[in-house]
Amino acid sequence: MVESVARAHSASFFPALEGDLPTIVRAEGVYLYTAGGRALIDAAGGVGAVTSVGHAVPEVIEAITRQLQRVAFVPWTQFQSEPAQKLAQAIAEMTPRGLTGVALFTSGSEVTEGAVKLARQYWLAKNKPDKHLVISRWQGFHGMTLGATGFSGHTQRRRKYQPMIQDMPKIGPAYAYRCADCASGSLRCADELERTIRWYGPENVACFIAEPVVGATMGAVPAPPGYLARIREICDAYDVLFIADEVMCGFGRTGKWFAVEHWDVVPDILAAAKGVSGGYAPLAVLTAHARIVAALRDAGTPWVAGHTYAQNPVSAAAGLAVLDYIQQHDLVRAAAERGAQLRSSLEALMPRHRILGDVRGLGLLLGVELVRDPVSREPFTVEDAIAFRFGRACIDEGVAVYPGQSGADGLVGDHALITPPLVITAAQVEALVNGIDRALTQVESTLP
Ligand SMILES: Cc1ncc(COP(=O)(O)O)c(C=O)c1O
Repeated sequence: MVESVARAHSASFFPALEGDLPTIVRAEGVYLYTAGGRALIDAAGGVGAVTSVGHAVPEVIEAITRQLQRVAFVPWTQFQSEPAQKLAQAIAEMTPRGLTGVALFTSGSEVTEGAVKLARQYWLAKNKPDKHLVISRWQGFHGMTLGATGFSGHTQRRRKYQPMIQDMPKIGPAYAYRCADCASGSLRCADELERTIRWYGPENVACFIAEPVVGATMGAVPAPPGYLARIREICDAYDVLFIADEVMCGFGRTGKWFAVEHWDVVPDILAAAKGVSGGYAPLAVLTAHARIVAALRDAGTPWVAGHTYAQNPVSAAAGLAVLDYIQQHDLVRAAAERGAQLRSSLEALMPRHRILGDVRGLGLLLGVELVRDPVSREPFTVEDAIAFRFGRACIDEGVAVYPGQSGADGLVGDHALITPPLVITAAQVEALVNGIDRALTQVESTLP
């Protein structure tokens, strides 16, 4: 028997070393309830945009329970399962045209790694074995695993592991708030992809991966008009696959099923996660163009990717129930409508709060940027930790947001993602904005 010894700190040290995060004991709809009995509006949507249909939805819980009673696990290397097949079929019917090959994974990192591995295998199947480079963007995020860290541009999440990662080429972000070119409608930042492909040699480049709306690193920054269309043209011209990372922005969050639809651009591979299972079970989805799947089939090369829980039937049952709920309750339209309300209410706070520099995003994937000076847009220092102070103030005021730093240049820059469940009502949006208003006042009262 293991002997347990009482220690000063709790055994769980992830992620707060002092273990001082509030404990959530229950959740329902848009609310999280703390051990102390407080209700918080969940505008962090899990980490980013997970909670799509809200908490404790009976239909989803029942679907998962039914599946658990039938079969909880089958190894994907040997068997298929009914819910995984049904979910793949349902997704293939809703993705942008041509993206009809579907594979199920369990996390965003697993699916983006699967996507770049698929790109690599496609080029091997096409007899272009030199194509291996993955071009991505600074201030883009594609996962915490070491592979994904190499093609992610989240400086703070990379630095400590720098000597261990397989680093990949990067171009700059397209960040209209801090880039005069993007603000003026120039596509110079997209053209940087072409220059980079030419520098490395198109024969060596397998794919380009980007978030259509940058989430964790920058706080809901959508691609500027024309940017993704130009990226598509460049990828086509140089035989480079375009991977859209919709882990955060996919499945209705932005007011369309997939964010790329806002610009009418079709990627070769689309990776999504979070909202597809709404936090009820770990699930990520890769959809690939039929031409890519066919190339692997023709070459007779199985795709080497996937962790133990890939194609999991319980996760698939959760995904089916969540998608059904989104459809039945018209939540993609709700995301557009409530998103417009939330955005304009946040914008209305700007004249009253000197640190509220920018409000941006699409649908219910919104973000605020906090700055020392709204005219010069000068950021706070990293040590000021304004985003995290704001996050704590929001919790004091009854709202959970997802704060982050490093969006401005990879080191400095404070933002918070505001991504409530798609089921949020108009009255709850108002309460959410009032909480943010009070939190901003609280933070400002501590500044010189
Ligand atoms: C755009 C994007 N890609 C990939 C990931 C990694 O997902 P996961 O944390 O599930 O591995 C995230 C996580 O926030 C993300 O926002």
